Amino acid sequence: MTLVLGIETSCDETSAAVVADGREVRANLIASQIDLHARYGGVVPEIASRAHIERLDPLICEALRLAGAAPEELDAIAVTARPGLIGALLIGVTAAKTLAWAWGKPLIDVNHIHAHATSAALGIAAGSGGGADGASIWPAAALVVSGGHTSLFLVRDPCDIVMLGRTRDDAAGEAFDKVAMILGLGFPGGPIVDRRAKSGDATRVSLPRTMLGPDSLDFSFSGLKTAVLYHVHGAGRTRGGLERLSPGDIDDLCASFSAAVVDVLVAKTLKAAERCGVRTVVVGGGVAANSMLRARLSETCVRRGLTLHPTPMQFCTDNAAMIAAQGHHQFVRGRLADLSLAAEAS
Ligand SMILES: Nc1ncnc2c1ncn2[C@@H]1O[C@H](COP(=O)(O)OP(=O)(O)OP(=O)(O)O)[C@@H](O)[C@H]1O
Ligand SMILES: [Mg+2]
Repeated sequence: MTLVLGIETSCDETSAAVVADGREVRANLIASQIDLHARYGGVVPEIASRAHIERLDPLICEALRLAGAAPEELDAIAVTARPGLIGALLIGVTAAKTLAWAWGKPLIDVNHIHAHATSAALGIAAGSGGGADGASIWPAAALVVSGGHTSLFLVRDPCDIVMLGRTRDDAAGEAFDKVAMILGLGFPGGPIVDRRAKSGDATRVSLPRTMLGPDSLDFSFSGLKTAVLYHVHGAGRTRGGLERLSPGDIDDLCASFSAAVVDVLVAKTLKAAERCGVRTVVVGGGVAANSMLRARLSETCVRRGLTLHPTPMQFCTDNAAMIAAQGHHQFVRGRLADLSLAAEAS
């Protein structure tokens, strides 16, 4: 059995977790900073860094207490070292290096996006089949849809991850947040747009699906966002039109926008699975919590005879459990970092 402490501070969630064998979550604590950033309509890097400094140490102590784990029982300390806000990453990386040195534990350098790509394995309960470390869900085509990234990967196993495509402009989560802002719905917009879309008519507003050519596995969402902006205010205009929309119109627009994003995500994920010859699809990242995306991916995978493993809802947005789990796989393969580990924004 391995016991890994995970530390995550790449953006606006401070998180510490203890995970056994890469899949049994003994503790996963998340201190969200949404309240601190909401009034600015987005994450303010300086505020995020300061909040991580205040919250991380007590969170690590509490995670260890909840897990019933003493520092000497840990096998390794895994930390998000990239990508993210540089000041925010530095807090987690510095804490992890300090603890690794003080407690004499191996340090593991985790790529946050790779952790989102493998987080679906946290849904495979220990002993439910799938083999040690949830290994049998790989190889899989992995869709990572988060606030800063929209990427497709071939995950041969958690230590062998190849990028197949990525967004050329906005990430899907960013598009959700910007559309929510256009519609005056608040921050973070994704969950609110998701909720409003449930009462809306997705066929009411015609919006573009940008495919970037028949073979492309890249994404582009900035044109869709602009189409929503012009639909609200009038072609070529960026303000003045919101008052004309009724709550029902906004629900319909949320549903039509979500459907446009989901159509592209589902089509390209299936194309990736087909191209790689894999029968399993996984999806992770904050937007993987989207109800329309989960429903459409699930229906389409059933129709095509593919197995879908969506990341459990509690591990979609940023969390240290996925960092500890990914860290476990790297640890057992001997991929250790040292105290020269540096945070990298991208
Ligand atoms: N139900 C939902 N529907 C759509 N989007 C959602 C939903 N829930 C969360 N999101 C979006 O997910 C994003 C946050 O996800 P996550 O925490 O994975 O991103 P991040 O960590 O900020 O970015 P990255 O992982 O790329 O560094 C936000 O853009 C948020 O609006
Ligand atoms: Mg993230």
